Amino acid sequence: MYEWIKAFHVMAVIAWMASMLYLPRLMVYHAEAQTGSIQSETFKIMERRLLKGIMTPSMIVTWILGLYLAWSGFGFKGGWLHGKILLVFILSGIHGYLVGRVRAFAEDRNLKSARFYRIINEVPAVLMALIVILVVVKPF
Ligand code: HEM
Repeated sequence: MYEWIKAFHVMAVIAWMASMLYLPRLMVYHAEAQTGSIQSETFKIMERRLLKGIMTPSMIVTWILGLYLAWSGFGFKGGWLHGKILLVFILSGIHGYLVGRVRAFAEDRNLKSARFYRIINEVPAVLMALIVILVVVKPF
């Protein structure tokens, strides 16, 4: 059972991370599009569907299955696990921030530059690398 749950946890992680890397990339192009243009309206639809259809559901599944693994496999013990949960909290905070940016774009009140979204785009990648090292290598 544990191994099955872990397999579904990793599938949910892949879907969440794919969206967390793609959404800010869409915003890089959206920030450069003219307000009211066809491109801008298309980006709004793409952002909303990615967020509601994949990103938020996969985050919820990742959390539920991850917490089950942490409880049943490790009794919530281990420095690596505490470090991992802390980093996933930060990742979830960025998720929440991106929800706010999707709303800002939807209401045509984005004031942030394409460069800003390019920088934000790197943060989930760095966190993901640290999280995977913690859970696979378990260095402490
Ligand atoms: C709060 C959310 C999370 C919790 C509590 C959690 C907890 C866990 C636990 C306990 C395991 C099993 C480790 C083992 O059996 O050795 C696991 C596996 C794994 N987790 Fe998470 N996880 C969470 C979110 C994430 C995220 C966000 C990522 C990636 C960005 C991730 C990536 C992985 C990977 C790749 C594995 C498989 C590791 C292996 O089989 O060696 N997890 N997770």
